[in-house]
Amino acid sequence: MKLLVTGAEGMLGTDVVRAAERMDHDVVGLGHADLDVTDVDAVARLLGDLRPEAVVNCAAYTNVDGAEDDLRSAMDTNAHGAGALASAARAIGASVLYPSSDYVFDGSKAAPYVESDEPRPQSVYAQSKLAGEHSTAESNPRHFLVRSSWLFGVAGKNFVETMLSLATNHGEVVVVRDQLGCPTYTAHLADALVRLVATDAYGLHHIAGAGGCSWYEFALEIFRQAGVECRAMSCTTEEIDRPAPRPAYSVLATERGEAIHLPEWEVGLGDYLKERVAAA
Ligand SMILES: NC(=O)c1ccc[n+]([C@@H]2O[C@H](COP(=O)([O-])OP(=O)(O)OC[C@H]3O[C@@H](n4cnc5c(N)ncnc54)[C@H](OP(=O)(O)O)[C@@H]3O)[C@@H](O)[C@H]2O)c1
Repeated sequence: MKLLVTGAEGMLGTDVVRAAERMDHDVVGLGHADLDVTDVDAVARLLGDLRPEAVVNCAAYTNVDGAEDDLRSAMDTNAHGAGALASAARAIGASVLYPSSDYVFDGSKAAPYVESDEPRPQSVYAQSKLAGEHSTAESNPRHFLVRSSWLFGVAGKNFVETMLSLATNHGEVVVVRDQLGCPTYTAHLADALVRLVATDAYGLHHIAGAGGCSWYEFALEIFRQAGVECRAMSCTTEEIDRPAPRPAYSVLATERGEAIHLPEWEVGLGDYLKERVAAA
């Protein structure tokens, strides 16, 4: 299958390109400098030239706190750019996959969020991601909207690296205990996305590391698996002042019959730690 990946130099995009290559697809990865998805003419021209059968849109504005003061940038890329890409894909008969976020939920539910749960975004970033789901779906009937959560992978700054670096440099960390989600290894997610675009299971999917935990529990497991000594203390969301609100609970589950399931988040963490050692 011929695949085009946008945002191909980002954390998820890098792994999607690798997964597609491993599965012997004909894949073209375009970084931000190669294709700005907000440039409608360039998007139409490039898709017309490359003629992929599916587009995996990993291009995104992902600065959750920064978006609070930059609605326009978040909406331009995550919503309008996503719509332009989906529309250009439709024009050449290609499907489109849009990765979305657990942050579209308000966190008030006490059980895992499934696809039929009502999104209620609390932050500008989350609003832009929900708007991107809508613009993608409205622009191309052959769409996959995949909500995932708490990503970590070798090609990006992530929570695991932050924790390991704090442990090395300070010997102690303070981590929130009252936000729960699903840590997800991008290599596992990327495999799932590439498998999904080769099907006709269009629509909304929740795909994330199985199980769930708080950021504090995630940090403890990082130190345990990495064999790192660190004094880990917990705090509440209220005690740390961050510009963007985050859902207190955003564990994802799926209600789809033939869903793609990822390994447990602890397995994802273990595989990530092995990959980063191998890459060092
Ligand atoms: N990270 C998470 O925890 C998380 C959780 C759930 C869902 N997601 C979703 O997963 C997807 C991938 O996230 P990620 O963590 O891999 O993000 P990332 O590492 O920030 O990668 C995003 C990539 O998109 C590029 N980009 C930004 N604006 C662009 C534009 N207008 N045109 C083309 N490329 C553009 C960025 O380039 P520059 O760096 O040059 O701007 C970057 O390479 C996003 O849709 C995100 O919303 C992420």
